[in-house]
Order: sequence, then C-alpha cells, then structure tokens
Amino acid sequence: MAKTAKNRPPVRSVAWPSPLPGRVGWAWLLRLPWRRRRVRRILGLLRGRVSSASVLADVGGGTGVGAEEVTRVLSPTEFQRRLVLDPQRGMLLRAPRRPERPGAPELVVADAARLPLADESVDVLLSLGVLCCMNDEAVPSAVSETWRVLRPGGFAVVSVPLRRGDADEPLFQAAGFRTVQKLRPGRSLYQRPAES
Ligand SMILES: C[S@@+](CC[C@H](N)C(=O)[O-])C[C@H]1O[C@@H](n2cnc3c(N)ncnc32)[C@H](O)[C@@H]1O
Repeated sequence: MAKTAKNRPPVRSVAWPSPLPGRVGWAWLLRLPWRRRRVRRILGLLRGRVSSASVLADVGGGTGVGAEEVTRVLSPTEFQRRLVLDPQRGMLLRAPRRPERPGAPELVVADAARLPLADESVDVLLSLGVLCCMNDEAVPSAVSETWRVLRPGGFAVVSVPLRRGDADEPLFQAAGFRTVQKLRPGRSLYQRPAES
C-alpha cells in the first residue's frame, strides 16, 4: 500500500538525533536558551495546579532542563523532591550537579517503561520529547507507568514534535487520563482523575 500522509506511521525522533546509548554529544542542544523558553511555556500549563511539597519526576529528563525550569515557572518551594530519570547515563552526567544543595534534582538511570518509583508516589510527571524517541512497542508501557506512579489528582505534562501530534492521546485516554489542556497537538496536560 502506498504511504500517504494518512496511513504513515507516527514519526519518531524527527527533531533530534536518535538517542543511542553513548551518543550524547548533541545534548547541549537541549540546554539552549530558546529551548529553555519553549520548555517554560509548556510548564506554564502547571500554573495554579500544583500544591506545595510536591514530588516531580522528569522522565526521559536528559540533562534535566525540565526539572530546572519548573522552579522558574512555579516556586522552588512547591517541590519537596525532584527526580530526573533517563536511561542514558551520559545525559544525566551532563546535568549540572550540585548535590550539596538542598532540593537539588536527584539523577536516576531508568527507562520510562519500567520506572523505579512506587505506586502513586509522584504529583507531577514530565515527559518532554521522550515518547517520540522510544520504540513504538514501549510507548504503551510508558503510559501505564505514568498512570501507576502518579497520585490520583496528579498531572503529566507531555510534549512531542508537532508532526507526531496527538498520536499518543488515545493511549492516555484508554489508561484513564483526562486531557486538561493543550498548547497545540502533541503538547498536552493530562490528569489522573482524583477519584481514580
Ligand atoms: C529529546 S531528549 C529530551 C530530554 C529532556 N526531556 C528535555 O526536554 O531536555 C529525549 C530523551 O529521551 C530519553 N529516552 C529515550 N528513550 C527513553 C526511554 N525508553 N525511557 C526514558 N527516556 C528515554 C533520551 O535518553 C533523551 O534524554
């Protein structure tokens, strides 16, 4: 069958080089000022929704830009704990490390499809440019892990390139998530309903 725009599979990793183990030389791109501004715009979806002493998990967090910028969009005192989880150790090693500072993000080598976090232990989960870098088969597990680790009432900020758009939204909805707000297709705020 000819591949038309309609039946083409969702695009993976169009915006960034493939995240092969050890290939992290491009990680500095993630930390450019224009990209930080874009991340702050996405994180603005959380304004007024996060209660104090929250736990944040930046899944596929790379060099930790999401976990850093969230404290510029919301107050740093809003978070009791911030975790940056990524399967590529090299990415985490490029995160600014100030472990001596109270409240500095904790860096954890982990896969989005198997998070080393307890059930209902996270208030805010970030997934910024991650689902588009994963194998198709692993994405449903990443979505169910997001549900498992979020507390009822917790939020997931999910961002993928425009060309991938809302391809993952049915998975989030099937898991039970409510779409709260969208900046554009593929940039969404989901909530695990409080009564779930
Ligand atoms: C485009 S980078 C985005 C990094 C970071 N979220 C940010 O916004 O700066 C994609 C990240 O997804 C991570 N990644 C790829 N496959 C993953 C998986 N299965 N589980 C978790 N993270 C993954 C990569 O290691 C890489 O750090």
